[in-house]
Amino acid sequence: MKHLYLISTLMLHSALPMIASADDAGPRDSAAIERGRYLVGIGGCNDCHSSGYAEIGEVMPESERLLGSGVGFAGPWGVSYPANLRLSLAQLEPEQWRQRIRAGGLPPMTWPSLQMMTPRDQQAVYLYIRSLGAAGHEAPSPVAPGQPIPTPYILLEPLPPNDASAMATAQ
Ligand code: HEC
Repeated sequence: MKHLYLISTLMLHSALPMIASADDAGPRDSAAIERGRYLVGIGGCNDCHSSGYAEIGEVMPESERLLGSGVGFAGPWGVSYPANLRLSLAQLEPEQWRQRIRAGGLPPMTWPSLQMMTPRDQQAVYLYIRSLGAAGHEAPSPVAPGQPIPTPYILLEPLPPNDASAMATAQ
């Protein structure tokens, strides 16, 4: 009898919604948030979405991370800006998060990597970023190809080698 009670409690518990806000994060959510922190770390998300992280790395406090960047990435797609993920995710319900990932977008965002994460890992990333709370302001809107660029930007454009001897071997 005692066993049955235990099993039904466990089943009931696992039927509870997985998504909860950071305020009422239970032990299950804490584990998912930890997993999300790990995935965001190894996924390199901070390198683009946290201004300055690429230079200083892990000493950047978490409170200052994932706030987006006003320095664009320019290429044949126009100019894209790493979004403020803390604002983006604060506005998305879990289902909308999955849809947002599926929809994809512009380079050099690593859309394929995010899309190939398991649904469980995508959810962990969601829970982790939401646990940081909404902060900062929106990144600039993307600029269409050929339009004036109102911000500093990094040009992602292949250039030919400028070493004459390398040029000879490259051809
Ligand atoms: C090489 C730079 C780069 C890396 C690395 C990167 N991103 Fe991005 N990300 C961007 C850019 C640029 C955009 C804007 C793309 C667009 O406009 O479609 C973006 C957009 C997004 C968006 C869309 C936000 C919105 O409001 O629509 C999400 C979500 C996102 N990134 C999550 C991540 C996660 C999670 C990781 C790590 C797994 C990551 N990004 C890694 C550059 C990057």
